[in-house]
Amino acid sequence: MAVSTNRVQPSVLVFYVNGKKITDDGVDPETTLLQYLRVKLRLTGTKLSCGEGGCGACTVMLSRYDKASNNIKHMTVMACMYPMGEVHGMAVTTVEGIGSLGQGMHPVQERIAKAHGSQCGFCTPGMVMSMYCLLKNNPTPSEEQVERELEGNLCRCTGYRPILDGFKTFAKECPMGENCCQRGGTEANEDERISTKLFNPKEFTPYDPSQDPIFPPELQRTETYDKESLRLVGERVMWYRPLNLEELLALKTKFPDAKLVRGNTGLGLSKIAFPVLISISRISELSGVRVSDEGIRVGSATTLSELDESLQEARKTLPDYKTRVIDALLKSLSRFANHQIRNVASIGGNVLKAHGVSDLQTVLLAAGVTLTMVTSAGKRKSVVIGEDTTCEELATDTDLILLDIFIPHPGKHEYFHVSKESLRRTNDSAIVISAIKVTLREDTDEIKSISLSYGGISAFSVLAKIAMKSAVGRVWEERLVSDMCQWLREDISLSPGSSGGMTEYRQILASSLFFRFYLTVADQHCRYVGKQSGVPPSQQSGSCGLKRDPSSGLVFHEEVSPGQPVEDPIGRSVVMPFTLTHATGESVFLDDIPPYSNELHLGRVMSTKAHAKILNIDPTEALKMPGVVEFVTYKDVPGKNYWLNLEEELFASVEVTVQGQTIAAILADTHEHAVRAARAVKVEYEELEAVITIEDAIKANSFYFPKKVFVDGDIEAGFREADHVIEKEMRIGGQEHYYMETQSCLAVPQTEYRQMEVISATQFHALAQMVTAEALAVPSNYVICKSKRLGGAFGGKILRSAAHAAITAVAANKCGRPVRCVLDRDEDMASTGTRHPFLAKYKVGISGTRITALDMEFYCNAGNASLSSGGFIDKSILHTCNTFKVPNIRVTGYACKTNITSCNPMRAFACVQMVLASEDFFGLVHEENMYREGDVTPSGQVLKHYNVRKCWKQCYDTSDYLERSRAVEIFNSENRWKKRGIAMTTTNQGISNTDTSANQAGALVQVYKDGSVLLAHGGSEMGQGLNNKMIQIASRVLRIPYSRIHISSTSTETVPNSSPSGASITADVNGMAVKAACETIMDRLDTFTQENPNGNWTDWVMAAYKARVSLSATGFYRTPDLNYNTDTLHGEVFNYFTTGAACSEVEIDCLTGEYQILRTDIVMDVGSSLNPAVDIGQIQGAFVQGCGLMLTEQLKITPDGKVLTRGPFSYKVPTVRDIPQEFKVSLLKGTPNPRAVYSSKGIGEPPVALAASVFLAIKDAIMSARFDSGLSENFQLDSPATIDKIRLACTDRFTKEFPIAEPGTFKPWFVDL
Ligand SMILES: Cc1cc2nc3c(=O)[nH]c(=O)nc-3n(C[C@H](O)[C@H](O)[C@H](O)COP(=O)(O)OP(=O)(O)OC[C@H]3O[C@@H](n4cnc5c(N)ncnc54)[C@H](O)[C@@H]3O)c2cc1C
Ligand code: FES
Ligand code: FES
Repeated sequence: MAVSTNRVQPSVLVFYVNGKKITDDGVDPETTLLQYLRVKLRLTGTKLSCGEGGCGACTVMLSRYDKASNNIKHMTVMACMYPMGEVHGMAVTTVEGIGSLGQGMHPVQERIAKAHGSQCGFCTPGMVMSMYCLLKNNPTPSEEQVERELEGNLCRCTGYRPILDGFKTFAKECPMGENCCQRGGTEANEDERISTKLFNPKEFTPYDPSQDPIFPPELQRTETYDKESLRLVGERVMWYRPLNLEELLALKTKFPDAKLVRGNTGLGLSKIAFPVLISISRISELSGVRVSDEGIRVGSATTLSELDESLQEARKTLPDYKTRVIDALLKSLSRFANHQIRNVASIGGNVLKAHGVSDLQTVLLAAGVTLTMVTSAGKRKSVVIGEDTTCEELATDTDLILLDIFIPHPGKHEYFHVSKESLRRTNDSAIVISAIKVTLREDTDEIKSISLSYGGISAFSVLAKIAMKSAVGRVWEERLVSDMCQWLREDISLSPGSSGGMTEYRQILASSLFFRFYLTVADQHCRYVGKQSGVPPSQQSGSCGLKRDPSSGLVFHEEVSPGQPVEDPIGRSVVMPFTLTHATGESVFLDDIPPYSNELHLGRVMSTKAHAKILNIDPTEALKMPGVVEFVTYKDVPGKNYWLNLEEELFASVEVTVQGQTIAAILADTHEHAVRAARAVKVEYEELEAVITIEDAIKANSFYFPKKVFVDGDIEAGFREADHVIEKEMRIGGQEHYYMETQSCLAVPQTEYRQMEVISATQFHALAQMVTAEALAVPSNYVICKSKRLGGAFGGKILRSAAHAAITAVAANKCGRPVRCVLDRDEDMASTGTRHPFLAKYKVGISGTRITALDMEFYCNAGNASLSSGGFIDKSILHTCNTFKVPNIRVTGYACKTNITSCNPMRAFACVQMVLASEDFFGLVHEENMYREGDVTPSGQVLKHYNVRKCWKQCYDTSDYLERSRAVEIFNSENRWKKRGIAMTTTNQGISNTDTSANQAGALVQVYKDGSVLLAHGGSEMGQGLNNKMIQIASRVLRIPYSRIHISSTSTETVPNSSPSGASITADVNGMAVKAACETIMDRLDTFTQENPNGNWTDWVMAAYKARVSLSATGFYRTPDLNYNTDTLHGEVFNYFTTGAACSEVEIDCLTGEYQILRTDIVMDVGSSLNPAVDIGQIQGAFVQGCGLMLTEQLKITPDGKVLTRGPFSYKVPTVRDIPQEFKVSLLKGTPNPRAVYSSKGIGEPPVALAASVFLAIKDAIMSARFDSGLSENFQLDSPATIDKIRLACTDRFTKEFPIAEPGTFKPWFVDL
């Protein structure tokens, strides 16, 4: 059937979702599969987190019958980018389709939950679907396959370790051998009651693929759907799916500006609505991979997964030398995006990529491939890319349709290699990718021809033509490298402010990667012609990048005492039912709440200037757009238009002080309509001078409140005592919270009075309630603020969520209808603030191995409102020396007032910067200066239950630190281009809020007549296992199984005046309040238990009810003994300290700056753990988050204040492949903490700072590289130690070729805040 371009009726889409047939004749082609599932089908298990294919939260499985192979093909896709038109004739499986709590969980769901692989739960359905699909294709995958399958699925909570431990129970081999958890794990020492188990895999349901839901028989029987041309008509876009080239050409003639689309992973990223789209997914002329003696012909619509599969197959039958290009392509594909993207992205779409770095464009350019194309008029032509045409010409000629690509096999003396460098090892686009091919004359070392292609140097991949020409005829010998560097300098020249930044790095890489190629070929060619390698052994480490094996983990924790009743869950790794529902997709997050029939969506009009007067706001065009109902500005705020203090307005009225600030809001019928219309509101500004960086603020003398100076001891005397004095600086960048669930709120006006119900994803319900009430000019008791759970928060939803709630409530108040506002990822990242960027300047006095004095000035970039920055300064000062005793200190803190979004608390708030800085400057004189129990801190706090030395000693011993340090030295002496480093660090975090009033909590326990218990407390469950612990505590006090206790939500209705959930105190204070409330209940039941000692809980509850005894009780707790002076910071500030130590070993690639964490050992004092699995999960997750802060998570902001890092595509949180290859976590044994509930300690934050061990191990490795270049003095390495900084610090002949441009002489692409 030919596609009709005139047909009035759009096509009817037919597909299956979870076995149910769907027929729909009204699908808008702009709708993504995710929108359809969530909005139309109300299947909300699949989550939206980034909307740009980078996080995997939206992973679903697509299945289709492939007639040619008589097989059902299953693949995962990112539903947030998958066009609805493509699902015609497919079966979609979502997390709901494979199991549920009621119907029975699928083994994948069961294992992730029971292995503690789900914390907040937001990433869990996506993880489940990735693993499920892997098993569908391979029921016994290898460990490596499991790990690689999850590369596209981000988790911000768990550090991936427990997810892998759960999923690897499906794998066929286990690196733990006899210690494998499948075999029950090892009991490390029965006598000492140390266990290595957090779950028992023997309890898992065996996986039986025959029990999986079946593929819809109809789709197997009929080919009808595959043979239908389609035409979908939407509000802004028409979408066609022709079936053959003829139809395609006809459509292209009719719509010359139409865009072709295959996977939509390139086009989708642009977020532009193209009026006409033509899908090429079903055009047989553009598909398939054919291998011949001469080469490989690849249809342009071939997906990268199909290509990978075909190349793997082809290389099995080809002679060795013919596989050299194939191997390079396979290597390149293995680092291309992630599985879900490769399953749909096409080779054609990548080669014709119109902007950004394209991996395959670069590879194919060097390979000298021939592209066969056809114009819309049907004219065919074949061109050799690089010779007949440039990549730019290809990508910008909109009339060309790429048919196929012919990749010639290499000759016997032809060598081909590819290297890709990106901020993150996997699931990342390249900073630079190079592909180099050389042909040597037969039986000689002379270059016949050479092709050097680079991506990431300019908008399109380019050939280094001067180098290519000059090298012909030269001999393949070391001297060539120096000359090549000269030629490449001419070919690849970037001015310092060039787009993308990192200009020195990109240029140095071009030479370094050539050197790598030189070594590789020198070695490979010698071997091929039967000679001994010409590369000296010490240089061989330069010939390849880093290799990574599958990771493994071990945990050690104390078991409960043998006498503890089995039903008492304290100290046990129990999993609550609500974790199980994370895995089945049944857990309800804010945006999963069904919509009200009259609900509206809010789109924010955000400032595009960092500092400006607002001259005019014109919503005229926006108000005409489809679905738009209302426009809201500051004039609609009945009460206070400020939140928290008088620095930042809810809706900017006359001036904006940051890009991303809310100026107004549009209310519309759908989220998409609201966001689009908000962008159409015109705002006129008069620009004012902006202050962006710390340096800008110092220059402009722009600070909040006077600098804070803290002095202890005699600083001058301390320096007089010192043998030597070190003066240094260190910069620590900010960090995006990157909670998987963005800021979200649903405000529902109540019909009576002016009440408002605010469902808010907040860590601080009382604040959201207060700010909303003030904005609405109503008392707090008119506003109910509540939520069930948060999809991660990490401090980012303490303050900002209150403004978000108030803005949404003001809008709901104006229109009198429920209003929902769920920020898109880019909006969230552009407007909600980060961890404080930080600069420390310090002077340390040392006498022998003793620290005698520290004089430190530090600055934090507070942003456009001071919010938490006063607290930041205080907490920083209180943690200045980390775990080190320094007799004489002076610390001066400044909060810089700038035009970036006001910074927020984030996990290990203020401590992490101080730990990293102090470990960097005290690291050399470590153990001698470490605090002991009973020491007094500079602020006058006596250290009790302080176990840092025990953690250090155990970590030192069990990590074999000494022996491994020697091994590192030997490794480094034998390898010039790979270096290893090892470092041990400590952490110490005071557990209490520095605002004393925030160290209180309330709880409410309600017992029903049937004996079931409903518990409420003031904390927010956001993945930290709070509800788990609260139920465990209640279960112990009430002496009933935890299954009888339930927590429904956190609400200002049940517990008023809650404290923020954070600072690692939430379980401490709420746990004590829960305990108190439960004890009250037990006191009241006492009479009845005594009257009926043989009765049970239900009997006593019923007896109490009949006796008219209240079965509801509140509990309250305030942390005792806190007593300090907020001005001088002297006194008992903290309830206690949580301490720990870590040892990390890394390997770096000196030529590229790439690194990997070979091993990390952590020993942490958590007192007596309430739940070892929860606590260890917190340690693993926090540590990996710390690694993100210190290694990959670089915030990029332009000099005029525009945030460039707005999603996973540009901002790199660690993936499953970035965690330590070996990861051991031990909980210190026998250190109960009498100052917190059941002798536990708060643990959520402190391990973040242990990532300093990785940072310093990297610095150690760089030191060794520098030593080889004759540099032995200490050097400054700032955080994050991104790949480019590592490379630049490894000074060598290549770095010397490109001197760093002098700051101030150019306008950088992005600035350090
Ligand atoms: C999360 C994520 C990670 C990514 N990582 C990488 C990465 O690591 N490396 C990398 O290089 N890219 C990466 N990309 C970019 C993108 O995935 C690739 O460019 C992909 O190959 C595009 O293929 P597609 O089929 O999805 O193209 P589409 O989006 O469907 O189309 C892209 C463009 O190509 C044109 N086009 C497609 N086929 C033809 C044809 N036959 N003839 C003429 N024009 C055609 C289209 O008109 C369109 O302009 C990533 C994208 C995402 C979302
Ligand atoms: S929401 Fe789809 S990949 Fe992130
Ligand atoms: S559990 Fe993975 S993001 Fe929270």
